[in-house]
Formats: sequence, C-alpha cells, structure tokens
Amino acid sequence: MSAKIELVLTCIRLGSRNTNLYRFERPEGGSLPPVAPGAHISLHLPGGMERQYSLLHAGENLKAYDIAVKREEDSRGGSRWIHDRLRVGMRLQVSPPRNHFPLDEGAAFSLLIAGGIGITPIYAMAHRLRDLGRPFELHYTVRSRSDAILLDELSQWENVTIRIGEESAGAPFALARIVGDAPADAHIYCCGPNGMLEAFEEAGRASSRSADHMHVEYFEARFEAATDHQFTIELARSQTELVVPAGKTILEVLRDAGIFVSYSCSEGVCGACETTVISGIPDHRDSILSEEERQANATMMVCCSGAKSDKLVLDL
Ligand code: FES
Repeated sequence: MSAKIELVLTCIRLGSRNTNLYRFERPEGGSLPPVAPGAHISLHLPGGMERQYSLLHAGENLKAYDIAVKREEDSRGGSRWIHDRLRVGMRLQVSPPRNHFPLDEGAAFSLLIAGGIGITPIYAMAHRLRDLGRPFELHYTVRSRSDAILLDELSQWENVTIRIGEESAGAPFALARIVGDAPADAHIYCCGPNGMLEAFEEAGRASSRSADHMHVEYFEARFEAATDHQFTIELARSQTELVVPAGKTILEVLRDAGIFVSYSCSEGVCGACETTVISGIPDHRDSILSEEERQANATMMVCCSGAKSDKLVLDL
C-alpha cells in the first residue's frame, strides 16, 4: 500500500447548493504525486472513516488536489463531517491517487457522460482531452441548476451538452440514444448514480459495444456483501486457514485475525483490497472488476466478495 501523505486544507469554495470544492496542498508546499484523469484519493477522517473522492485536475506536477464533496444527508457520516467540521488549515492523512477509471488518450473519439456529482472524474478527463486536442463530447445531466457544479465553465465549451432535469419538461435524459449514436470505435465513459450506470451498461449491450470501450465508475456499492454462508480461506503465504462465518466478510475475518490487508472503502468501490486468488471460485460483489475479470477469477475484493466454492486460496 502506498504511504499516506499529510495534506492541509487551503481553500473551500461553494460548488453548488449542497456541494463544496476543497483544495489540499502539502503543508510545506511542493509537488504532489501525479494524477491521471479519472483518479481518486482517499481521505482518512476521524473515527476511522475513509472516503474516496475523484480529483478534478490531473497532471504530473500538481501543487494541489481539488475535490468536490456533495453533502449526503443519508450518508455514513463522511460527507457530513467534511461539510460541518473540516476547516481551512486542518490537516488530513490522504492516500495517494488510485485509478480504476483510466482514460484511453489515444481513442479516435471519446464520449463522456456524467450525472450529478459524477462530473468530477469526467471533468478531469475532459480537460485532459482538450489539452491533447483529442475529439470528444461531454453530456452532463443534473437535477437543477442549483445542484450543478462547474456549470459556468462547462457551459462555455462548444462540445458540452448540459441537461437540467427540472428545465426539461419531463423529457428523460436520452442515455441510450447518446450511447447508440456514438461512433462505433468510441470509448465511452460514464459516472453518476448507480441507476444511471446500470442503464449505461445496458445501452452499451443494446448497441453491441465492445465491453472494453465502455467505462464506468461507481461511487456507491452496487451489490450487498456476500455474507450469507460459511466458507474457508487458506492464506498461501502465511500458511493459515481461517473460517469465514455467515454474517462476516473476508476482510473482517482477516482483521480479527490480525492479518494485514490493505483496504479503504469496505464496499467494493475503491479497489484497495484487491487480492490475488490462487484457487477457488469467488462470489464477486464489487463494482470494479469487468465481466471478463470476474470470469477469470484471478483477483477479488475481499471487503465484499465471498466464495462460491467451499474454499478459497488467497495470495496473502
Ligand atoms: S476496500 Fe474498497 S474495494 Fe475493498
């Protein structure tokens, strides 16, 4: 696991009625680890909370990380703490950028689709494609103007279509048509609420898109953790066998046994706990692995996935 870095919050700006933009820098100044478009960082908050946020800007030599945090009233507490308690000058431990939503910069055409706060990684991608002079279109849908972030800037771009839901006279966001109309060799990216992402994946299948040209980033857990029955895990490196009882995840059993494993979100969306599977058949419940990767059963997210076989042998 990459070492955490301590960053100081240097600026808070209002992004929309319920979203703030936060800027973090090194306390002593200087460059931060490089960021690829689509990457996120993990903030380590009080009480053991960790939350992942996509970075608004990518680059090799950034002096600041910018994120957007929407206040979620039904959240597990992370966004509320950030909005209510985090203030300029406070320091946080931050895990360096990770990226499960990489941009294919060589694509002949890129179609970017964002719903609500899902604009954050998409915005970084759009900037990168503009800088490279690559052809792309961006479709950004939000419920209302007061919910939208980055609206002033994006509305100036000629290849950006912004749909404001409450100004659309009830017409739904034409996701299937937008995906269907894209060039056959386009790489298509979508980030937004789970329902939108599922519709996006369905639109890709309906228009016979190659799965490796369809890219999604889930912010929320897509499936329940697999905790409905007992199975055994064998840890090949430490030559240990453990029982995972019904009601517990592999990660919980590993932590109870004092075995170190990297993790962050604990709900299958960040990829921090990805573990190599030596044998056995996982019951994949994460929101990261592609269908092909699930079929291959070479790795699994131990925070949420379980076992279809009686035993899993893991490279731990
Ligand atoms: S800890 Fe985030 S995917 Fe497992």
